[in-house]
Amino acid sequence: MSGNRTFTMIKPDAVEASNTGNILAMIEKAGFRIVAMKKTLLSKEQAESFYGIHKERPFFNDLVAYMTSGPIFPAILEKDNAVEDFRKLIGATNPEEAAEGTVRKLYATSIEANAIHGSDSDENATIEGDFFFSTEERY
Ligand code: RTP
Ligand code: MG
Repeated sequence: MSGNRTFTMIKPDAVEASNTGNILAMIEKAGFRIVAMKKTLLSKEQAESFYGIHKERPFFNDLVAYMTSGPIFPAILEKDNAVEDFRKLIGATNPEEAAEGTVRKLYATSIEANAIHGSDSDENATIEGDFFFSTEERY
């Protein structure tokens, strides 16, 4: 059975462009409940740790620089089939390949500055939510 929580971040480009409210409205309209949310600025160490899985990728240094370039809104979301449904809502990594009506089609500006993150598995949703929020905050 798939879990009912996922983890997201509104990324620096979307926050800077004042798209946070519109994106949160899309998320709530799609049936997700916001369980936890805050605004924060990632340190280089935090960004390197969060994206550690991509350490060997050619885009890793650019990704860390981008993700530390401005504040983000990390959040835990709840809905049946959350991980899969949320990946559908945000669309493909590259906005040029993202389906019409998805968050990235509407708000991403490049494959890197792609507006939003969504966990790719239940296991990672838990790890990523724990990275930003305490037990009390995840209640
Ligand atoms: P995310 O983890 O942020 O939800 O994105 P994703 O699963 O769709 O994509 P992933 O492969 O996990 O890549 C993580 C983030 O790295 C940046 N990226 N840049 N320049 C590039 O070729 C490139 N490829 C990926 C994006 O910000 C991507 O979301
Ligand atoms: Mg990913």
